[in-house]
Amino acid sequence: MKKLDDYRLVWDKQELVPLVIGGMGVDISTAELALEAARLGGIGHISDAMVPTVTDRRFRTRYVKDKLKKYKLNVANSDKSGVKFDLGQLADATRMHVGRTMEAKTGTGMVFINCMEKLGMNDPKATLRVRLTAALDAGIDGITLSAGLHLGSFELISDHPRFRDAKLGIIVSSVRALVLFLKRAARLDRMPDFIVVEGPLAGGHLGFGEDWRKYDLWDIFLEVKQYLQAQSLNIPLIPAGGIFTGTDAARYMAAGAAAVQVATRFTVTRECGLPDKVKQEYFKVNEDEIEVNLLSPTGYPMRMISSSPAIGAGTRPNCEAFGYLLDRAGNCAYIDAYNREVERHPDSKSISVPDKTCLCTHMRNFDCWTCGHYAYRLKDTSLRQPDGSYALLSAEDVFNDYRYNLESAVLPLAASS
Ligand SMILES: Cc1cc2nc3c(=O)[nH]c(=O)nc-3n(C[C@H](O)[C@H](O)[C@H](O)COP(=O)(O)O)c2cc1C
Repeated sequence: MKKLDDYRLVWDKQELVPLVIGGMGVDISTAELALEAARLGGIGHISDAMVPTVTDRRFRTRYVKDKLKKYKLNVANSDKSGVKFDLGQLADATRMHVGRTMEAKTGTGMVFINCMEKLGMNDPKATLRVRLTAALDAGIDGITLSAGLHLGSFELISDHPRFRDAKLGIIVSSVRALVLFLKRAARLDRMPDFIVVEGPLAGGHLGFGEDWRKYDLWDIFLEVKQYLQAQSLNIPLIPAGGIFTGTDAARYMAAGAAAVQVATRFTVTRECGLPDKVKQEYFKVNEDEIEVNLLSPTGYPMRMISSSPAIGAGTRPNCEAFGYLLDRAGNCAYIDAYNREVERHPDSKSISVPDKTCLCTHMRNFDCWTCGHYAYRLKDTSLRQPDGSYALLSAEDVFNDYRYNLESAVLPLAASS
């Protein structure tokens, strides 16, 4: 059997190691992690989720403070329709996050940005246009559209000078979603440069319903492949979700994948943005402590570690500071759930909201521990230290494990780190 490194993803004569580190929202896939993937010849992602919040932390800007100051009087108001993002600031923040990352890029690989449609930001079309445009302006190599059908997304940037040069792709979980997207792309005579087919074992939001167990990445991957062949479309296919070893990756490559996208294994690397304490939670987690629930206000199921502090928390909606999930009318399912609990417990100082979570606040604070299904195998990839903690890994070691390793078992990597 050939190993992942025996293949290359070739675009316009550029050869890449066919390994993509997927976007992990709110700076879990940091610039540092993405840059490592690029240095090693693959593709890394930064995320465009909550970028002003991320630049505040990364570059000491004051976007969040300033927004909160501007809308301070609205904090106790459950109507959030007036809480808008300043589009100029949003563009500046995106250009800063992307631009500084691209300036630091070395190696022959690429850095993409993951862009989630579900981040409505109280003005879905305008804010998405700004985010996509600013990322292209700042020299991003490519954009991966995710968390939504993105039927209008190409149109939003069709007049951008880089629209036909930057690598643009989409994450889908079914042929049905892909067909809808391709129809719209055909109108602009602009097919995507790649398609990520994400199965139900992935981390983050899932493109499936509560019946996600009925689906299998392998089957969906083959269905999408057959569909493209039938349409004579030669678009690189990149499966994602539960590809845990080099052997898993090689199996997809042998079946015609152009590359594979992975994420969970990189959550325990030093370059990943999660705090070290949280990385230990990822190492320690057992299979029965990983759940798929409907707590995300987006409406998509999400997989997370069941001891995540975000679960059941009664945080006051923080839309004046964040507000990334507000839809076009300024609504968010968490606000409704929170207000219902406040009404039910008028005398309570602290409440718990069992059915939804304030995703902005908890992702910002790394309190929502989303992960892929196989996170419970992370402990097998490292060595336990005398104090009981697991040794963090280097992104390079994990990358190379995917690239070269065809062992059937996962081997601890920490010894060589
Ligand atoms: C911690 C974490 C956060 C994620 N956040 C996002 C995200 O913000 N947007 C997105 O499209 N996918 C997100 N994903 C999905 C990954 O990009 C990737 O496609 C998927 O997890 C691959 O499966 P694996 O984790 O089993 O390797 C996330 C995954 C993880 C583990």
